[in-house]
Amino acid sequence: PKRIWFSRHGESLFNLEDKIGGDAGLSPRGEQYALKLPELVRQNIGDRPLTVWTSSMTRTIQTARHLDFPKKQWKALDELDTGVCDGMTYDEIEAKYPDDFARRDEDKFNYRYRGGESYRDLVLRLEPVIMDLERHENILIISHQATIRCMYAYFMGLSHEQLPYARIPLHTIIELKPKAFSCEEKLYHIDV
Ligand code: G3H
Repeated sequence: PKRIWFSRHGESLFNLEDKIGGDAGLSPRGEQYALKLPELVRQNIGDRPLTVWTSSMTRTIQTARHLDFPKKQWKALDELDTGVCDGMTYDEIEAKYPDDFARRDEDKFNYRYRGGESYRDLVLRLEPVIMDLERHENILIISHQATIRCMYAYFMGLSHEQLPYARIPLHTIIELKPKAFSCEEKLYHIDV
């Protein structure tokens, strides 16, 4: 690929309550991000043809809503499935499943949520997306924190230990330009 752009969805109503999982829509701030995204994308992309890939979840589809480019939805880009912890805050998870919470802290890459996924599972799920990404030019992916960590780690050569802690800030486009052995990286933040 010539260039890849990653963005998390705009702030969601669940983000505001510190809840994980779910299929919430955007908060007013998240909606502001979605509105400002087209201008930033146009500044960076110019006349190059662009395709936008989203997950199948409401918050990424809403974030892409104002972008006037061909779009594709991938179920494989959906957020890490947190199983029985879906809809809970981290404090609630720690109180209800203290052993799991500790185990996750010890080995975040391999920890699999009860009835859900691990980062290792996610890396496998994302393999077809990454293969397709390798064959395309100029793709903007609007997805989620955990999924972007996996794709970012692939292109930046991060280890399994580093991957689950990669910093993927909200309301920021991460641009990767593949070079011989790694990628050149640029961040564009939108203040909303
Ligand atoms: O649960 C989904 C979150 O985006 C992943 O965050 O793996 O740092 O808890 P976490």
